[in-house]
Amino acid sequence: MDALDLVVNRRSASRLAEPAPAGEVLENILRAGMRAPDHGTLQPWRFTVIEKAGRERFSQLLESAARQDQMDEKAIEKAKQSPFRAPMIITVVAHCQENHKVPRWEQVVSAGCAVMAMQMAAVAQGFNGIWRSGAWTEHPAVREAFQCREQDAIVGFLYLGTPQLKANTTIIPPDTTPFVRYF
Ligand SMILES: Cc1cc2nc3c(=O)[nH]c(=O)nc-3n(C[C@H](O)[C@H](O)[C@H](O)COP(=O)(O)O)c2cc1C
Repeated sequence: MDALDLVVNRRSASRLAEPAPAGEVLENILRAGMRAPDHGTLQPWRFTVIEKAGRERFSQLLESAARQDQMDEKAIEKAKQSPFRAPMIITVVAHCQENHKVPRWEQVVSAGCAVMAMQMAAVAQGFNGIWRSGAWTEHPAVREAFQCREQDAIVGFLYLGTPQLKANTTIIPPDTTPFVRYF
């Protein structure tokens, strides 16, 4: 796939099925994450790959968090099912150094860039996904499961798999004018 086409026309895919990226393809995705811009070479990211039995464990974690929060049965069921929307999820944590000359926000942005780089590496290899966040990123039980320290943040859950709908090939180029000025 042409690199410019990838960055200009990238779209997310939320309907994802087996197979998930594996082997060298998955390794390329993780390497792409590691190539995110990184002020101070802090490597301020941690990736947790969730697949197969890991999705069951993640589902149990969300169910227990939802019960802990006394959510209603409908919300508990939704939480339980959410990990099964894709065959693989990569949780990305911004692993931040405190009191560093590189401010925390820059480290969080770096981890965010890692998410997008991984999504693009997935697309480049015939897979796709969607970056999701939501209230679970802030939940103490979920944060603990992904080894977040106080200064860390879950920047997202990158759902990955094989897209079920054909990508929209007639993307209308966006009008950049309202968003850009020249100084
Ligand atoms: C930090 C962040 C969190 C997001 N969280 C969600 C989410 O929880 N659920 C969702 O449907 N989309 C979420 N999105 C948006 C999707 O990843 C996606 O960008 C959006 O559906 C638009 O699709 P596109 O990427 O094809 O333009 C999030 C995006 C970002 C950058």
